[in-house]
Amino acid sequence: MAFTLPPLPYGHDALEPYLSERTLDFHYGKHHQAYVTNLNTLLLDAPDLAASTLEEIIIHTAQAPSKSGIFNNAAQVWNHTFLWNSMTPNGGGEPQKALALKINEDFGNFSEFKNAFKQAGITQFGSGWAWLVVENGKLKITKTSNADLPMIHGQVALLTCDVWEHAYYLDYQNRRPDYLEIFLNHLANWRFAEENFLKAIK
Ligand SMILES: [Fe+2]
Repeated sequence: MAFTLPPLPYGHDALEPYLSERTLDFHYGKHHQAYVTNLNTLLLDAPDLAASTLEEIIIHTAQAPSKSGIFNNAAQVWNHTFLWNSMTPNGGGEPQKALALKINEDFGNFSEFKNAFKQAGITQFGSGWAWLVVENGKLKITKTSNADLPMIHGQVALLTCDVWEHAYYLDYQNRRPDYLEIFLNHLANWRFAEENFLKAIK
């Protein structure tokens, strides 16, 4: 069964002025769509994966060098769907309740968390992702390269920021630190992160 591009949870212009409609047109409409299209094409030659879910395909191909094309496109489909949910109009601010307490417990305070998340995004060399994850009951900030993602490292993702240049270059050019600051202050969807956290610690 072919995969389809999941609908964006908001309009292409809904993250203005922090991310432009043009960025969403390209990032969602071209880049995310291309990963879906490429994945479907590659799966035509992988009948063993025909009945698998996206997550099963990612796990199954992660350690198989001969299937790196399928892994990269499947993981990027998953990563981008997760990214759109990690942002929201009128986002930013701070999480509430259980996740707020856990951030204080594991990072000291929210400001320490913010600095560490931003540093992860800034120091990811080349293309990749900054993540807030749960691993063995503890919150952790990680960064991954290219299509790599927490689920193949025994971690549960709570929130992500895409630091591939295609995510910010039209709006911020080379200023990745500014983009990360804006993400944290105005776009981060803490409600989504809280839902993921509550599921992860069940
Ligand atoms: Fe992206």
